[in-house]
Amino acid sequence: MLSLGLGTAAIGRPQYINIRQEAPKDFSLADFREAGRKILDIAYEEGIRYFDTAPGYGLAEQLVLDWVKEKQDPTIEVATKWGYTYVANFDPKAEVHEIKEHSLKKLKEQWKQSKKLLPYLKVYQIHSATFETGVLGNQAVLNQLAELKADHNLLMGITTSGANQVEVIQKALEVVINGVPLFDAFQVTYNLLDQSLAQISQQLLQENKRMIIKEALANGRIFPNEKYPQYTDLYKVLGSLAKKYEVGIDAIALRFCMDSIMPYKVLSGAAKAFHLTENIKTERFKLTREDIGRLKQFAITPTTYWKERKELTWN
Ligand SMILES: NC(=O)c1ccc[n+]([C@@H]2O[C@H](COP(=O)([O-])OP(=O)(O)OC[C@H]3O[C@@H](n4cnc5c(N)ncnc54)[C@H](OP(=O)(O)O)[C@@H]3O)[C@@H](O)[C@H]2O)c1
Repeated sequence: MLSLGLGTAAIGRPQYINIRQEAPKDFSLADFREAGRKILDIAYEEGIRYFDTAPGYGLAEQLVLDWVKEKQDPTIEVATKWGYTYVANFDPKAEVHEIKEHSLKKLKEQWKQSKKLLPYLKVYQIHSATFETGVLGNQAVLNQLAELKADHNLLMGITTSGANQVEVIQKALEVVINGVPLFDAFQVTYNLLDQSLAQISQQLLQENKRMIIKEALANGRIFPNEKYPQYTDLYKVLGSLAKKYEVGIDAIALRFCMDSIMPYKVLSGAAKAFHLTENIKTERFKLTREDIGRLKQFAITPTTYWKERKELTWN
């Protein structure tokens, strides 16, 4: 089973947070949908069986649903989320892309659609759990999640973003409903720059929780870019490791996530076939302990990391 999973955010809506400069020209929804389907097919042919989606990802959840029903492969695992509504209507010029709402009403509304993914749906997550929305203290929501978990044999999860991811995970670990810890899966940002998850990864493994890594390429910031001169040394080390293992630096960065904290899956967020096939090369090799040690030195503080991420635009 591959360690790589496919995240579908970038194949579900034309605009997404990354370092790209230009918006796609002459956007066609039909072509976009077809391109997304092709990515799902390539991922499957290459052996990927874990697919992460969300109602907030434009057409992605429906695309995955249609595709998975055709595939009929019981080894496919789908993870989805609730809590964000996509509102940009595929307009490349939209100013608001998504609206966050962690209410019981939104959970019930989005579950109605997401449950169609059963029996492939294995993981159900709160999309970007934060202290601000109070979702981890909302008893009505937590009870409902516990019910869904028991009724449909789901792994219940949260996804996290932001400088306080570790605190949010700690709080989620304390949630117990009817004597059973509610959360089993944690989809967390972890990469060469934000390595804060490492503080709690051992505990998560010991408690038999799943870690799923997102934003493993730091939204593209691990690729040499003159806008980030502070990462010149990182780019050099990544370049030399890429040469050593005869892969691209994306494969090195993904492999770092796999070999340094042993997650259940690392998500590729590729929207282009070429990027996906390059990402998959991460399955060909393992980093040595020395390589990992060299790469660990490039961690920056979560505050700096998330400040820089906030400056990235949707494009
Ligand atoms: N709050 C949440 O729950 C949350 C937040 C973020 C992400 N996620 C999940 O995690 C998944 C992955 O995250 P992500 O896509 O945001 O971040 P990521 O993997 O850090 O970054 C993906 C970026 O790297 C680029 N890329 C990939 N391979 C490349 C290559 N070989 N050469 C050059 N560029 C390359 C992609 O470009 P292209 O697009 O051009 O291929 C894209 O811009 C998402 O799809 C989603 O499922 C969840």
